[in-house]
Amino acid sequence: MAQQWKGPLPLGCPMPYTPRYAAIVRNSFDVVVPENELKMFWSHPDPLSYDFGLGDGLVAWARDHGKTVRGHTLVFGDALADWIGQLPFSLFPAGRALLRIPNLGLDKIIPPDFLWTRQLGLAVMRDFITRTVSHYATHFPGVVPEWDVVNEAFDDEGHYNDNLFLRVIGPDYIAKAFEYAHAADPHALLFYNEYDAQEPNARQRAVAAMAADFKRRGVPIDGIGIQVHVSATDYPTSAQLRRVMREYRKLGLRVEVSELDVSAPPTRYGLERQARAYRSIVGDCRAAPNCTGITVWGVADPYSWRGDAAEPLLYDDALKAKPFFPALREMLRAPPAVALPAVAATAPRRQRSRS
Ligand code: G3I
Repeated sequence: MAQQWKGPLPLGCPMPYTPRYAAIVRNSFDVVVPENELKMFWSHPDPLSYDFGLGDGLVAWARDHGKTVRGHTLVFGDALADWIGQLPFSLFPAGRALLRIPNLGLDKIIPPDFLWTRQLGLAVMRDFITRTVSHYATHFPGVVPEWDVVNEAFDDEGHYNDNLFLRVIGPDYIAKAFEYAHAADPHALLFYNEYDAQEPNARQRAVAAMAADFKRRGVPIDGIGIQVHVSATDYPTSAQLRRVMREYRKLGLRVEVSELDVSAPPTRYGLERQARAYRSIVGDCRAAPNCTGITVWGVADPYSWRGDAAEPLLYDDALKAKPFFPALREMLRAPPAVALPAVAATAPRRQRSRS
């Protein structure tokens, strides 16, 4: 059953990089989100090894400061391991590769005439998801209660984005990824996370159709991450964003505003427009019974992925809170203004297919 959110909304952010940044995260945020440290690109440096060092440091910091971690992200076409993208097979459409992948039942050098098959694609993806989710569930029990399992699988026309797993496994790589993550940690909340799907459009319709299909088939999905990378002059109206949130609620799914940033010029007027946009989006999440968290994609402007000119975050170039942040923090911390209506119970998950 999708949860009603009764308490204050947790505010998440990517990991601190300096003592000053860490102090801000410690004092102003509830959830830490690894911007890159848990992605395949960073923790699976070659077919033979895993390196969870960076992720462990971040997750331990969160644990030690009484915070949880939003696991981001297990399958993202733009952040697959380098070795996957660089293997010879990617140069030869036939998928020729020479590599050894132990503990996948393929403990031998694969001959040059190897063809990159669906079976190997599933094995590689399953190994990464299983090793990563199990690692954190085992070593940091309860600290990583949720994961972005698949990120940005659709383009702006609602078609599948190209990536290795789509090419080799097919579109059901998405459902398989959720099944693997659920098998690795049955207690984790599993999200699909999408860019530019904060209002009804072709991409958002593709996400909703996939989510409805998953719920019908009993694929273990718990929520949708709505990233919301916007500007102070171009962001979803409350009608648009609340309609999207309501659509997922009818499916029995949670939503989170999962990567919020609002670019604006660092002028008085720009700050006012930025404050208005932040208040609008936070208000939309507060009004939605199934909206259970908000993550800003960065803490301070100098660290934003959007570059120096965007100034999209809650702390400025001097790492000082922007004037509107205290009021926003109160918005997040306040108990819900109205009793939240119960959300529809969802059909219990049917026994899932084996991969
Ligand atoms: O740290 C290395 C550095 O050592 C190296 O010299 C340099 C050049 O190769 O790369 C550096 O790593 C970069 C990393 O950011 C840290 O800056 C990676 O190349 C770069 O690809 C990576 O970009 C990240 C991007 O996701 C792709 O993974 C961004 O930081 C991160 O903000 C961005 O976040 C994504 C979410 O995961 C999904 N939603 C969209 C969002 C914004 O694109």
